Amino acid sequence: KPVVLSGCQPSGELTIGNYLGALKQWVNMQADHHCFYMLVNQHAITVRPEAEALRKATLDGLALYLACGVDPEQSTIFIQSHVPAHAQLSWVLNCYTQMGELNRMTQYKDKSQKSEANMNSGLFTYPVLMAADILLYRADRVPVGDDQKQHLELARDIATRFNNIYGDIFVVPDPHIPEHGARVMSLLEPTKKMSKSDSNPGNFIGLLEDPKKIAKKIKRAVTDSDEQARIYFDFDEKPGVSNLLSLLSCATDQSIEQLVPQYEDKMYGHLKGDVADAVVAMLEPIQEKFHQFRNDQTFLDKVMSEGAEQASERANKVLTSVYDAVGFIARP
Ligand code: TYM
Repeated sequence: KPVVLSGCQPSGELTIGNYLGALKQWVNMQADHHCFYMLVNQHAITVRPEAEALRKATLDGLALYLACGVDPEQSTIFIQSHVPAHAQLSWVLNCYTQMGELNRMTQYKDKSQKSEANMNSGLFTYPVLMAADILLYRADRVPVGDDQKQHLELARDIATRFNNIYGDIFVVPDPHIPEHGARVMSLLEPTKKMSKSDSNPGNFIGLLEDPKKIAKKIKRAVTDSDEQARIYFDFDEKPGVSNLLSLLSCATDQSIEQLVPQYEDKMYGHLKGDVADAVVAMLEPIQEKFHQFRNDQTFLDKVMSEGAEQASERANKVLTSVYDAVGFIARP
């Protein structure tokens, strides 16, 4: 079976963007892939969260993975910091990554503009740790949203460079980006990606949000002001309406082409009502299961401990061959 690896940062509550862009694909890939899914808490400290908030977000994230249908019987689920090989490989790969490559990363550029107060070097080398995450498992496919494409290209470049020097150590991974839902946009600023760390909560929908609040947020979503308030799909001309149509399409598994004619003579309010109902219906079963998993610490502990064990076993093999390749003497 082809190997799959992916992860989310436990920073704040996961959003419908994370679900549609990533988690939903993860679940769908489980049956015919060998999957590794993690919570990347080491990536999360680049913005120095409160320790207690990080602990909570990590356990919430784990329970959410399970609630969304990531199945520990089929897939390996683990916490990044439980597998030291990630940090270990990351150091090695740092020495095979050029400053210029990291300088070009758009996510780093965005972040460095926003958080001048804490421009730590972890933010800069973040994509190297991500490359280590992927290459450690010799992953063939990496299911992510559109925003991670550039990081994945870097991981491919690092893998290729390393292999050219040392032989066939890494697998060069392919991104797996869904056709729909790869870029869920913000509700109030639909030209900007929906993000869990947005300072304006009106912009995103958390997977655990109260249905009434979700409906309210969708009703307030920005639509587009053109002369006739027509409903059609065109991201350049009508980003707000197109984002809503796209959400509706993902939540109902109907294509945009099927949906648009149904709104020919309808108003924006009608579309919003339908989007709200569909998103709430999509989240209801997830929320219900979340609370069951979240309250069962014994089960969460079992998932984390078995996951760390399985992940370490695979990761350590690759780490050993990397250490050997670069000339580290094995510990006698
Ligand atoms: P993160 O935590 O920002 O997001 C997790 C996943 O959700 C996707 N995503 C979205 N998809 C569609 N629309 C959106 N608005 C949206 N927002 C987020 C992301 O593309 C991602 O797939 N660097 C990664 C985490 C990571 C990782 C890895 C991923 C670390 N190591 C190894 C894959 C493989 C990140 O910050 O994702």
